[in-house]
Amino acid sequence: MKLDKTTETLLIFVAALVILITAYYVEEVCVSNNVSLEYSDTLSLTGARLSDSIYATSQKVKEWRNAHDNGMQFEIMIHNNAQNVISNWKAEIEIPADAELADYWNVAAEVKDGKLYLTPIDFNIRVNNGDNISFGFIINTTEEYYPRQMYLQGYKAFYNEASVYRRILYFAFVVWFVLFIGFFVTKFNLRNYREKQKNDVKIILQSMNTFINFIDAKDPYTSGHSRRVAMYAAEIAKRMRLSEDEIQNVYYAGLLHDAGKISIPDAVLNNPGKLSDEERKQIQNHTVAGGEMLKQLSSLRGIRETALYHHERYDGNGYPEGLRGESIPLYARIVGVADSYDAMSSNRVYRRHLTKDEIIEEIQQGAGTQFDPGIVPYMVDMINDGYVNVVKKETAETDDGSKNSHLNEDVIPGFYMGF
Ligand SMILES: [Fe+2]
Repeated sequence: MKLDKTTETLLIFVAALVILITAYYVEEVCVSNNVSLEYSDTLSLTGARLSDSIYATSQKVKEWRNAHDNGMQFEIMIHNNAQNVISNWKAEIEIPADAELADYWNVAAEVKDGKLYLTPIDFNIRVNNGDNISFGFIINTTEEYYPRQMYLQGYKAFYNEASVYRRILYFAFVVWFVLFIGFFVTKFNLRNYREKQKNDVKIILQSMNTFINFIDAKDPYTSGHSRRVAMYAAEIAKRMRLSEDEIQNVYYAGLLHDAGKISIPDAVLNNPGKLSDEERKQIQNHTVAGGEMLKQLSSLRGIRETALYHHERYDGNGYPEGLRGESIPLYARIVGVADSYDAMSSNRVYRRHLTKDEIIEEIQQGAGTQFDPGIVPYMVDMINDGYVNVVKKETAETDDGSKNSHLNEDVIPGFYMGF
């Protein structure tokens, strides 16, 4: 099961919280079990206070005699004015030899050898400092009786609120809380930012699609060419492991690489015969014209250069400037390969498309002369693994004959809107 990043982060937060809470309780148990000093003393139950720090009081609540039993009910309270907590305590009270225990509360009780033994119901019932605990019992006896003293045995737990560990834990809780809130605030801001970014991309794509419709209208025979080249080029960029921003820019560069075609006269563009030198010059000039037209688009990196240099050759025999090797901008080298593949795999006014094997051979032969030899293998892989067919299907005419001319971000290879 694959979790998204938000769920993963939340799980980490929950795990951190569980660790903190566990540490808090472990620390508390450790501290309250810090029972280095044993308490052991006899306390008067007749009102005489033997100690100011720990003392006990008792009260006979009720006494009765009837045909069935002679009962006495007592309530006892242990007061702890000491600095420490008395934990894990037990008390002994002498009772008459014939006494039978009839009832008791707030404690566990047992009679053995004429003595009443009282212990907390469980370990966690302790007498906190500044606090008291009350309990009671009923005995049946025929004798006159009032408890006089209680032997109390227990442990003083050193319970220090300001322990170093506790301070660290409190600090860790605060850090956790701040990070937790920070996470949600960031998440919220990021979502707004993403929405805005998505909207920006939409506007860019819509503008480009509109412009491409102009180019397609000008040269219907190569309709869809720009979109296919953009997708091939973006896939090459993705396989070259360029960053997401770069893949996106390569895509835009591919879309607009032939923008300059608009400047070519229709008669020249659609001439099925042999071109004159002048006509060839006019066609080649679409690179310079494209570069000029896209000058203003400086905020999208590499768009203008790609339009200007996508017909440069790696060996320096291309146009318009005869740039060579790595001096040709990377996007232009990528789009150059994608552009040639699309030209070879499409029917043109002057020829039919080449076969798959012919295309691969042409491209491989062009490595190092026409094309960047570092880019060629990616294009060949895309032909061999069938990716190019996905692009053709994606950009093909739909059943009703309309062009699939509204590309959106979902069909851009390697283009991720999500984080
Ligand atoms: Fe071109």
